[in-house]
Amino acid sequence: MGFRKDFLWGGATAANQYEGGVHEGGAGLATGDVMTNGSHTVRRQVTWRKPDGTTGSTPLCFGSPERHLPEGAIPVELHDDKYYYPSHIASDFYHHYKEDIRLMAEEGFKCLRISMKWSRIFPNGDDAQPSEEGLKFYEDVFDECAKYGIEPLVTLHHYETPLAFAQRCNGWDSRELVDLFVRYAETVFARYRGKVKYYLTFNEVNLIEVAPYVAGGLIHADPQNIANAAFHQFLASAKTVIMSHEKFPEIKIGMMLAFGPSYGLTADPADQLLARQRQDNTLAFSDVQMLGEYPCYKLKEYEREGIVLPVQEGDMETLKKGTCDFLSFSTYGSNTFTTHDDEGKKGEGNGASARQVANPYLKTNAWGWGTDPQCLRIALNIFNNRYHCPLWCVENGIGWNDVYEDGTVHDDYRIEYMRVNIQSMKDAVELDGIDLMGYLYWGCVDMVSNGEGEMAKRYGQIYVDADNYGQGTMARSTKDSYYWYQKCIRTNGEDLD
Ligand code: BG6
Repeated sequence: MGFRKDFLWGGATAANQYEGGVHEGGAGLATGDVMTNGSHTVRRQVTWRKPDGTTGSTPLCFGSPERHLPEGAIPVELHDDKYYYPSHIASDFYHHYKEDIRLMAEEGFKCLRISMKWSRIFPNGDDAQPSEEGLKFYEDVFDECAKYGIEPLVTLHHYETPLAFAQRCNGWDSRELVDLFVRYAETVFARYRGKVKYYLTFNEVNLIEVAPYVAGGLIHADPQNIANAAFHQFLASAKTVIMSHEKFPEIKIGMMLAFGPSYGLTADPADQLLARQRQDNTLAFSDVQMLGEYPCYKLKEYEREGIVLPVQEGDMETLKKGTCDFLSFSTYGSNTFTTHDDEGKKGEGNGASARQVANPYLKTNAWGWGTDPQCLRIALNIFNNRYHCPLWCVENGIGWNDVYEDGTVHDDYRIEYMRVNIQSMKDAVELDGIDLMGYLYWGCVDMVSNGEGEMAKRYGQIYVDADNYGQGTMARSTKDSYYWYQKCIRTNGEDLD
């Protein structure tokens, strides 16, 4: 017995990396629209002081080399030629959606994950009325999917918050966004009733601790601001779930976690404990959204750090009631941790010396991301043991400096990555009995990478003729991996040769 008959094979995308058309259809700007590509080396970092007088700093965005907010970015001079903002054109899905969806249908997709740009529907986030042009654009996309029997999966918030909130109230640090988000969700659920059945509230909700501007529109991001923002996103998600269960019972809402299993580099118990703690920190986020409460170790951490959650009366009951219907996740690989230095000498406890290192057993790409043949099987078992809920892998893929020649890309490395990961997932289903809803390959059409803000790190099975500055014809062509995945889908994952 392999994958279930209605297994949702397909691909995943996000508006800020794929959609473009930022200045069209009356859309308002989002936080992602003022991020440069990675070649601009102005790093935005926030330094802060704890109540005990110690200081620290938080980078606002991901990545190495980082992509950035230009100095003095908010408000920003968008017409300043000094900078290039990749989200403005991205892969121009805005004008190519018909062609892309047709290619996906020919590849065999059963499902397409897109994200909605909140500021395309409510340009400032809090406008009195939604934008009809914005709503119509996504409606056309869903109608096109329906033509081919492709089920849409919609992320309501994928690394972009209406910019007005970042400027005015430090993004998700402010409770004001909670009810505005629920209103946005309700508008969307009502409009696309019968067209969209699956939604995710916040993409990779745990990464707000790593990239608070990207994930939460925070300009000021000390640990207290970050904890506030995470709490407000949890609350917004829970209220959205409660509202949808009451008014749109046919809709299923998932949480979305960025997850890679954590390994200790050595059998030193300190390495094992460190790996465990890092993994548990990630699972704290799924605990809130799947179990409806913070785990005790996260509350202890907040207590130690002097962080007080901005809880109001009834909030904890809301979190408990508004747990998600399924757990979705991204997995690119595993994470390895050690408390030892490069010579293998033991560091001082697992404080200053604790760090993430490369796993010597894994092959990596140019950005150091490793291919782990057991990753999905381990991840799925962890989720299943902890939550006993429906699971869905909604991101998995590999970025590469593809070479385009003779109208295609011979990406055997991508085929190998998919083969290894799909086999791992299949083992979890066949050998461990995990109930898995689907698998979505990340970045099925080439798009701007989130970390670097560049096209050069391509994930696609479909090539897009565009460079790091949006120059090119935007023409689409299929890579070797497109045909491999087509065969995989056609055989429901039976033929992985
Ligand atoms: C996930 C995000 O973290 O990883 C995507 O949800 C992102 O938005 C993907 O694109 C791959 O990361 P990157 O930085 O290589 O684009």
